[in-house]
Amino acid sequence: MVEKNIIKTILITGAYGQLGEACLKYLKSNFEIKSTGRHAPDDGIHLDITDSDSVHCVIAKTNPDVILNLAAMTNVDGCETNPEMAESINVDGVKNLCHQFEGQFIQISTDYVFDGRAGPYSESDETNPISVYGKTKLAADEWLLENQEKTTIIRTNVVYGYTNRTQASFVKWVVDSLNDGKPINVVDDQWNNPTWTESLASVISRLIEGGAFGLYHYGDKDLINRCEFAHLIAKVFELDASLISPISTAELDQPAPRPLKSGLKTEKIESELGIVPNSVETCLMKIRKQLSR
Ligand SMILES: NC(=O)c1ccc[n+]([C@@H]2O[C@H](COP(=O)([O-])OP(=O)(O)OC[C@H]3O[C@@H](n4cnc5c(N)ncnc54)[C@H](OP(=O)(O)O)[C@@H]3O)[C@@H](O)[C@H]2O)c1
Repeated sequence: MVEKNIIKTILITGAYGQLGEACLKYLKSNFEIKSTGRHAPDDGIHLDITDSDSVHCVIAKTNPDVILNLAAMTNVDGCETNPEMAESINVDGVKNLCHQFEGQFIQISTDYVFDGRAGPYSESDETNPISVYGKTKLAADEWLLENQEKTTIIRTNVVYGYTNRTQASFVKWVVDSLNDGKPINVVDDQWNNPTWTESLASVISRLIEGGAFGLYHYGDKDLINRCEFAHLIAKVFELDASLISPISTAELDQPAPRPLKSGLKTEKIESELGIVPNSVETCLMKIRKQLSR
C-alpha cells in the first residue's frame, strides 16, 4: 500500500509583518498555511495573541500541527516606554498560544537577550538582556524551554527584507534615502550578522521538516557593523555611499540601550541540520534581482 504523504498545517501568527511576508512566500509550497494577524487582510484570519479566547477559537478551528509565532512587539524603544504592553504581547501572548497546544511550537527570538559585550554568541552563552524588549523575549524563551515540550526557538538578529510590511526595514530605508539623494547617519558600533528574511524562512522550513526541537541561533554569514552594512547595500544597489556618515549609538540617545558587540554563532544549526549561512552580499544581490523583475 502506498503511504499517504501528509502535509503539515502551519498556523502563523504575526503573518503580515516583515518576516511573515517571506514565510508566507517560502512555506506555502510545502505546507498548508493558516495565516493570522492583528491586522489581517480579508483572506487572512484575524488574531490578536493577547486575546486568549480568540487564540483558543482559532487553534480549535484550524487544528495546526505547528504554530510559528512571528507576532511580537518589535519596536525596541516602544517596549522600553510601555513595558506592560511588551510583557503582554511578548510573554503572555506566547503562553496563550501554548495553552492546550501540544504540537511543534516555533518561536523567533533575538540576540537582544545578550548584553552585547562579548558577541558573537552561541546557544550556551550566558544571557543578560539590557532592554525591556530583550527581557521579555528571554522570559518567553525560558518559559517555553521549561513548559512546552516540542519547542523550537530560533534566535536571530537584524532581520531585513525590502518590504513595506514594517516601518523599520533597514535595507529599504538605506536604498530609498540614497536613491532620493538624502544623507543618512548610520551607527558604526553595533555589530551583527544581518539576516535576510528569506534565509530565515528557509531555515524555519528545514526545522519543521526535520522536527528539530530546542534552542538554535541563526544569522547569515558576515559579522559587520551597521555602517558597513549600509555601505554594502550602497555597493550592491549602485548608490552613492558618500551620503552615509558614521555615528555612535550613544549619539542617538534612544530610550532603550542596544547590545553593541553582538551577533550569533551558527555552528550548532550548521552541524545538526547541514544549513549553510548565505553571505550578506549574496542576499542583497538576490533582493536587487527580485526587485528588477
Ligand atoms: N526584525 C528583527 O531585526 C528581529 C531580530 C530578531 C528577532 N526578531 C523576531 O522576529 C519575529 C518577527 O519580527 P519581524 O521582523 O517580522 O517584525 P514585524 O514586522 O514588526 O512583525 C511583527 C508582527 O507581529 C504583529 N503583532 C504585534 N502584536 C501582535 C498581537 N498582539 N497579536 C498578533 N500579532 C501581533 C505585528 O502586527 P501589527 O501590524 O498589528 O503591529 C506584526 O505583523 C518577532 O518575534 C521578532 O521579535 C526580529
